[in-house]
Amino acid sequence: MLQGIPVGIIGTGSAVPELILTNADLEKMVDTSDEWIKTRTGIQQRRIAGEGQSTSDYAYMAAVKALADAGITADELDLIIVATVTPDYQFPATACLLQNRLGATRAAAFDLSAGCSGFLYAVSTAAPMIASGLYRKILVIGADLLSRITNYQDRNTCVLFGDAAGAVVLGEVPQGKGILSIQLGSDGSGGELLIQRAGGSKAPASTQTVAEHEHSIVMNGKEVFKFAVRIMDNLTREAVEKAGLSMADVDCLIPHQANIRIIDAARERLGLTEEQVFVNVQNYGNTSSASIPLALDEAKRSGRLGSGDLLVLCGFGAGLTWGACAIRM
Ligand code: UT7
Repeated sequence: MLQGIPVGIIGTGSAVPELILTNADLEKMVDTSDEWIKTRTGIQQRRIAGEGQSTSDYAYMAAVKALADAGITADELDLIIVATVTPDYQFPATACLLQNRLGATRAAAFDLSAGCSGFLYAVSTAAPMIASGLYRKILVIGADLLSRITNYQDRNTCVLFGDAAGAVVLGEVPQGKGILSIQLGSDGSGGELLIQRAGGSKAPASTQTVAEHEHSIVMNGKEVFKFAVRIMDNLTREAVEKAGLSMADVDCLIPHQANIRIIDAARERLGLTEEQVFVNVQNYGNTSSASIPLALDEAKRSGRLGSGDLLVLCGFGAGLTWGACAIRM
């Protein structure tokens, strides 16, 4: 249970590229089919950022909307955290680029990397800072352009991913509302299951790493799938129980949007109905750190989340990492 000043989401925003890459488009690029992609993943299309665009462009667009939704200006921000595995640069941090572009003159800024769990890790880092009174307003962004590190000759991965950004502003909320509990975990022994091998200190960029596609995502899909199905329901249950509640109290679950079969398996094990689980994987594919805040923003703007509703966010990703949090809207 999060102690101290009650902290919650006071604004949301998201941004996706205009360009749509459909399953039919992918059929022309690799040996795949619309039928295979739809039945194995639930994905029908994904968005791809235009040439010259970068993660900070979408993070910025999402941030501007989240600030407007919260009714605050950038100079009120104390901290900006960007969760991403596709930063504009290795350094400086994408969060610092945003600090400058937004005019967040008072804000500290840093990036955080926890794969597709990155947004939940960032929220979990930010929330206690507000609860303790250290900071009052924090901008948390999940943004990734996975298209930039996807090998479009590898059918095992290229059908899955899309580009997007989602943002929230965290701040003080009335007593009884906001983030009730946080549950995080990791298992680094699974690091090889989902990895970008080159470009870091272990394998700096070379003509060989480029020729061998080592700057692209490599994934053991089957093992990640098994891990995800194993972890999602317990993770969600633990977050809810930590808040002193039970699954019967949950109004809406927003899971990481990776694969409809993973989401359905978790939903069935948790005893939730289809209406209780927000799904948009069909439209955007797996957008990594952006997946949960993008879904959250869509759910909120479509009227799916009412005041007082118990919302649970949960996700998993490279690392391996996982996280969940229970929020009273
Ligand atoms: O955010 C976290 C990131 N990752 C994930 O969440 C991914 C989790 N994993 C998955 O979603 C699924 O494992 C995949 C969608 C990646 C794959 O589905 P699957 O049911 O586990 O398929 P599979 O890997 O067992 O492959 C089944 C068959 C294989 O052919 P053979 O060996 O049975 O002849 C693959 O080569 O499907 C083949 N295959 C494809 N066929 C058509 C793999 N990718 C494709 C494709 N189109 N795109």
